Amino acid sequence: MLNQEQARAVADQYPGLGAVERAHMIKRLTWCQYDDIAGHLPPQGDILDIGCGYGHFGVYFTSRFPQARLWGCDPDQAKIAVARLAQNQRRRYFAGACTEVPQLPPSFDGIVILDILYLMPPDLQEETLAWAASRLKSPGSLVIKTIDPGQGWRSLLANLQEWVMVKLLRKTYSSGAFAAGQDPSIYTNLLGKMGIACRTIPLPGNRTPSVLITGKK
Ligand SMILES: C[S@@+](CC[C@H](N)C(=O)[O-])C[C@H]1O[C@@H](n2cnc3c(N)ncnc32)[C@H](O)[C@@H]1O
Repeated sequence: MLNQEQARAVADQYPGLGAVERAHMIKRLTWCQYDDIAGHLPPQGDILDIGCGYGHFGVYFTSRFPQARLWGCDPDQAKIAVARLAQNQRRRYFAGACTEVPQLPPSFDGIVILDILYLMPPDLQEETLAWAASRLKSPGSLVIKTIDPGQGWRSLLANLQEWVMVKLLRKTYSSGAFAAGQDPSIYTNLLGKMGIACRTIPLPGNRTPSVLITGKK
């Protein structure tokens, strides 16, 4: 996880960022293991962040790896408007699901899918993973972070948190579902059939029962 100073350095790259968005971004940067996640991706080439939200992972990644170009997309137009505050030659952000953005390059050296699958019904999860597998170069790396639904009260608590964000506060855009995360083995088996060899790594230190799925093509 990033410390406060590292998180503030990322937020500082958004000129004109509102106080609420800045606080939300810093909280997310200090809670989510973006530093570990970044270590599973190639340090150069084209990296796609599907469901990038405010685009902060891309800002962190391109600051750490100056040889990389970061592409981000998210169907939430308001979040992409914020992400674009930090847009430059090496990071570009687009509104829309990955399947709907014609400006994206045809293939990527790395793709990340961080905490978005549980906001989609299973058929859309499968469609998104199939699209990502088809757009990954060989060699290429895929990294997925998701909630393991089989972790008892910790999973219930994570679902409750999602319900608050999606249904109650309406802060998180959902693609027709919430708390729809599936057992990680469902994703690894699916990706295996698509030619991506996967490993599942629990993420210790996270208050939600998150797992990383890392895949290689
Ligand atoms: C919990 S946020 C995670 C954002 C970001 N990946 C991060 O690490 O902070 C979930 C994001 O998924 C996005 N989302 C919802 N449906 C999506 C879809 N079909 N494709 C891509 N992103 C989607 C939401 O707009 C939201 O920005």
